[in-house]
Amino acid sequence: MLVVGPNGAGKTNLLESLHVGTQGFSPRTRADAQLIRFGAEAARVVMHGMRGAVAVETEVVLQRSGGKEARMNGARVERPERLRSELATLVFTPDRLAVVKGGPAVRRAYFDRALGRLLPAQAGVPAAYGEALGQRNAALRRVGLGLSTRDAVTPWSEQVVELGTELVVSRRRVLDLLGPGFAERAGELGLEDVSLDYRGEPLSTSALEARLDRDLDRGSTGLGPHLDEIAIVSGSRDVRSFGSQGEQRLAVLSLLLAESDLIAESRPSPPLLLLDDVLSELDPGRREILAARVAGRGQTVITSTSRQALPADPAQVIEVTPGRAWAA
Ligand SMILES: Nc1ncnc2c1ncn2[C@@H]1O[C@H](COP(=O)(O)OP(=O)(O)O)[C@@H](O)[C@H]1O
Ligand SMILES: [Mg+2]
Repeated sequence: MLVVGPNGAGKTNLLESLHVGTQGFSPRTRADAQLIRFGAEAARVVMHGMRGAVAVETEVVLQRSGGKEARMNGARVERPERLRSELATLVFTPDRLAVVKGGPAVRRAYFDRALGRLLPAQAGVPAAYGEALGQRNAALRRVGLGLSTRDAVTPWSEQVVELGTELVVSRRRVLDLLGPGFAERAGELGLEDVSLDYRGEPLSTSALEARLDRDLDRGSTGLGPHLDEIAIVSGSRDVRSFGSQGEQRLAVLSLLLAESDLIAESRPSPPLLLLDDVLSELDPGRREILAARVAGRGQTVITSTSRQALPADPAQVIEVTPGRAWAA
């Protein structure tokens, strides 16, 4: 589906509402009040669709006072963000370039979200590790303040090692899953020999023990997967430092397409793909490859300021002007 309209018409808003309606949150902001129309008290997104052969309906209601409720097929979803374990949506926005260009924390967060989608049984591991790490850091600071003894840190160190090891194993599995498809999609788009490279210091109880004095000084844990790097490499060089703007864009897009293929294999239906402003940044040859890639597999919504930008016949064209969207 192609969404066309001039700048500022509301194309990104429409895409964002599709994300909110299927996932229960915005890909852009955690501040839900920003999603409500200026001057209004509430926002509501209702969607009808098919998951495989089965009809699904979702409804998400946001209140300016902070309340948020989601329903799926009429039944209340306990936490609206849980919609994402039922329905998969992947999004490309120009902001997503941060996954390649930004610091390691952006990539860790990105791949940990992919972990939640690709390894549902391990989805809670990143948060559980974060929790254990927070507890260890709090214990370190209590020792520093003379409120407790060094021994009190030990149980948290053990937790950090146990959950941290599980996190590293899960992340590496995610990279193993994504790596081949990422290289293939990137190759089609002209980005040769790319790979995902996990970089981190080995974590063990003895390694944590060995740096306890330094950790006590700093009041924080200086070793563990919260500091690891997931490098996106082309040839032998880091795309982050050496890739051109265009290559960085292609890398993000290839990651998204690779994940989309994996989800299509493991879930009842392929994910909804939301591609915001992707065409204007690609040359005609690459636009064609992308159009061929997304054609006929699940549903893809692409925004553009120009009908001519998509070198393929979309199943549907939606025109957007401020405050209005309709099928052209
Ligand atoms: N909460 C809001 N309520 C009403 N209008 C908003 C809200 N947030 C953004 N806008 C307006 O939406 C427009 C931008 O729409 P957007 O979807 O980004 O356009 P584009 O078609 O270029 O993607 C801007 O004019 C902005 O002022
Ligand atoms: Mg936009």
